[in-house]
Amino acid sequence: MKATAIANANVALIKYWGKRNEELILPFNSNIGITCDGLTTRTTVEFSTKYNSYKDHQIIINDEEFNRDEKNVQGQLDRIAGIAGVELKAKVVSETNFPVAAGLASSTSGFAALTLAACEALGLKYSPRDLSILVRQGSGSATRSVMGGFVLWNKGIKPDGTDSFAEELFDKHYWPEFRIIATILNTKKKSIASRAGMSQTVQTCPYFNSWVTSTEIDLLNMRKAINNKNFKLLGETAEFNALKMHATMIASKPAIIYWNSSTINIINMVYKMRAAGIEIYFTIDAGPNVKILCLKKDEIQITKVLKSLKEVIGTISCSLGDGVRLTSEHLF
Ligand code: DP6
Repeated sequence: MKATAIANANVALIKYWGKRNEELILPFNSNIGITCDGLTTRTTVEFSTKYNSYKDHQIIINDEEFNRDEKNVQGQLDRIAGIAGVELKAKVVSETNFPVAAGLASSTSGFAALTLAACEALGLKYSPRDLSILVRQGSGSATRSVMGGFVLWNKGIKPDGTDSFAEELFDKHYWPEFRIIATILNTKKKSIASRAGMSQTVQTCPYFNSWVTSTEIDLLNMRKAINNKNFKLLGETAEFNALKMHATMIASKPAIIYWNSSTINIINMVYKMRAAGIEIYFTIDAGPNVKILCLKKDEIQITKVLKSLKEVIGTISCSLGDGVRLTSEHLF
């Protein structure tokens, strides 16, 4: 009845922004992300037993209780209990080694670890592909965290979502020099959750269709860049795609602006270093934090420059990591 899983965050190089089906969480676009070895969540789930009976779901994330706020977590627990044919409530304890809900992709590792631990606790066994379909219904981008390395989330075309799953393009050993450095600027919770922001963008942004069609081209370029280990094409495509996503948010009504002045300063730093000949690119999710894309040869120099900026309170340097897995080291 108790199980624990570990998952790594997956940061998108080609973004998922917009659902064709909000209920089943089906995206308009296929998207690609990297599972990062340094951004990790460990989650223990225990469903009620005759020894421990929980009347409601109890959710503790990084020592804080979130029993009322985490509706999506509760929904995912109920969904899994429903599949197992039980009506039990669970206690969930989760720990991350990075700030949650600040645009550092914490929901990716969070929902992947939660789903695998909850399934195992109830004796449900899934293939990685089917697990990704179940994870997807909890939070879209988490679909990609089920697999390791470079991961594609196929948008699928079926209305029931059975063809919208994650696929490992290359595992974590494929590109040992590849690095992604998460900058931590601000540990505050974001002003608008990505779920609401995404829905508002689909409904009100006049450029939304262009985002969808142009992202198909970015996806082809990204696949080519990864296949050929062409870092320049990868970086340019990731930056272009991330900026277009933010452009759709800014052009929504009311505007959604996740950036702050520190975000702009770091973008300028990237441009400056690139002009000086360093291979450095960025991507940004639904928050002010910037993620730097680079290669091992430049990692130390880039980290030094980042740490010299007054707005950077920390950096986490990642290589490609593993997909979600079970562990016997429970948190309670
Ligand atoms: C900007 O996966 O958090 O990080 O499916 O509603 O839970 P829901 O949204 P979520 O959206 C994340 C979007 C993004 C881009 C990405 O990771 O692809």
